[in-house]
Amino acid sequence: MTDRYAVIGNPVAHSKSPWIHTEFARATGQDMEYGRIEAPLEGFARAVEEFRAAGGRGANVTLPFKQQAFRYCTAPSARAQLAQAVNTLIFDRDAVRGDNTDGVGLVRDLSANLGRRIAGSTILLMGAGGAAQGALAPLAQAGAARIVIANRTLPRAQALAARLAGFDVTACGYESLAGQSFDLVINATSAGLEGAVAPLPEGVFARGGLAYDMVYGRETPFLALARAAGVEVCDGTGMLVEQAAESFFLWRGVRPDTAAVLAALRRR
Ligand code: ATR
Repeated sequence: MTDRYAVIGNPVAHSKSPWIHTEFARATGQDMEYGRIEAPLEGFARAVEEFRAAGGRGANVTLPFKQQAFRYCTAPSARAQLAQAVNTLIFDRDAVRGDNTDGVGLVRDLSANLGRRIAGSTILLMGAGGAAQGALAPLAQAGAARIVIANRTLPRAQALAARLAGFDVTACGYESLAGQSFDLVINATSAGLEGAVAPLPEGVFARGGLAYDMVYGRETPFLALARAAGVEVCDGTGMLVEQAAESFFLWRGVRPDTAAVLAALRRR
């Protein structure tokens, strides 16, 4: 019988995950199908229960349900616990395993696809919401020399930094960034979706640095600002494909090749 998977979110019509996983399945010869489920805002758990009852083997979870998915799963992985958010559910007989592949997807895109060395680098992580929470620990564990979390609401950044002991991670407001520069500046805010950009001082991008926006498929004001400053820029399409590949691996035990899918997605 064909194994069933789906992405659960609201809204979910725009999600590229069904296309990506269908390509992975075809390329690796896996007998599976992958659909999309729009759960009502108050109906996440019920939507998951129904999908499990109908034979679903696993699911991706997207906005706004990643924190709910963390609470829903019975066995969160270490990286899900660090992120306190889950984007991948794996349905076993009695247990629901939860994992978070967003951060590792970002790290893999930066290192494998973009050829950036994270070890020893200085990183500015903009934002302290769900997207930043998923990225922080994987970036630190990949060997970043120093990570600064900047956020409009400083206490949120401080709370996030405090979660990660044993690494050089500090929090600040954007106004405190003057005079500092970073090898990697990663936008994990949702400001670009409203056409806004967090106030970055001139010189925040180190020479030869990279500006990365986790948002994909559009030129955000952040990327425009970085481009004007003369640094290399990249959107989150590669992170999207790499987090999907990691989820696919968790479900199927097979690691799909991401290069062809990423190239096709960029062409679309
Ligand atoms: P997500 O799960 O997508 O990260 P979120 O939890 O709502 O969504 O977090 C959104 C992030 O974008 C936050 O860091 C938010 O800053 P605050 O914590 O101060 O709200 C940031 N953000 C949103 N709009 C912004 C703007 N116009 N300027 C700066 N930061 C913004």
